[in-house]
Amino acid sequence: MQLSCVNFNVLATRTPAPVLQMLRKSHMSQTLKHIIVATAVVALGMHGYAGAHTVAPGPWGQLVDHQKPLQFASEKARITYFRRNQMWAMSGHFRSLEAVISYGAPFPTLIQDDAEALVRHGASLAALFPAGSQMDEGKFGAKPEIWQTSDKFARHVSSFQSAASNMRQAVANRGDLVQALTGVRHECLACHQVYRVFEPAR
Ligand code: HEC
Repeated sequence: MQLSCVNFNVLATRTPAPVLQMLRKSHMSQTLKHIIVATAVVALGMHGYAGAHTVAPGPWGQLVDHQKPLQFASEKARITYFRRNQMWAMSGHFRSLEAVISYGAPFPTLIQDDAEALVRHGASLAALFPAGSQMDEGKFGAKPEIWQTSDKFARHVSSFQSAASNMRQAVANRGDLVQALTGVRHECLACHQVYRVFEPAR
């Protein structure tokens, strides 16, 4: 690696905070500091940590993000992390719809976007489950049955897509929102009942 070409600040944003702190305090030469930072970055793997650094520079200053960058032991762990975040995103849209439809929150014009989002999530749902990404034995998450009974799983996916599409229609046409929401809820529950092991309550 050509150290002279490496921008120290860019590397520094990808270096764990304790390493940076140690370097700032020390009196060693700049070049030696660059070598240490570059080695730390290479050792961690630049790819996995791009953007996941402790300092988030921007128009409001050098802001410190107190959440530590995550560590992923495997590709499966990365996939599972993404999939769970997608599920939580779906959950947010579902709960927004529920807040308006079931609990009367006064935002009837804002839920079209949530219904659209559920349709988009439906379209990418199957792709969240690449072969080999089942939960670790004895843990919680995606059951191996997803791949063992893949035809049935695909029917759950397409059934969810229909329910999401009905939800979008109902919001757009001021149709029966309660029934459409129940239809979506039914699909979430049905798939979870067969294919998901829930995280034990903490
Ligand atoms: C076709 C199947 C399927 C459908 C439909 C589905 N899910 Fe999931 N969901 C799963 C599976 C499988 C998991 C476990 C994934 C994992 O842990 O890797 C999961 C996990 C979750 C999680 C937990 C994520 C975590 O951090 O552990 C939430 C929240 C969630 N789903 C919400 C929803 C909501 C809300 C809906 C409906 C709007 C929905 N899901 C529809 C299969 C489905």
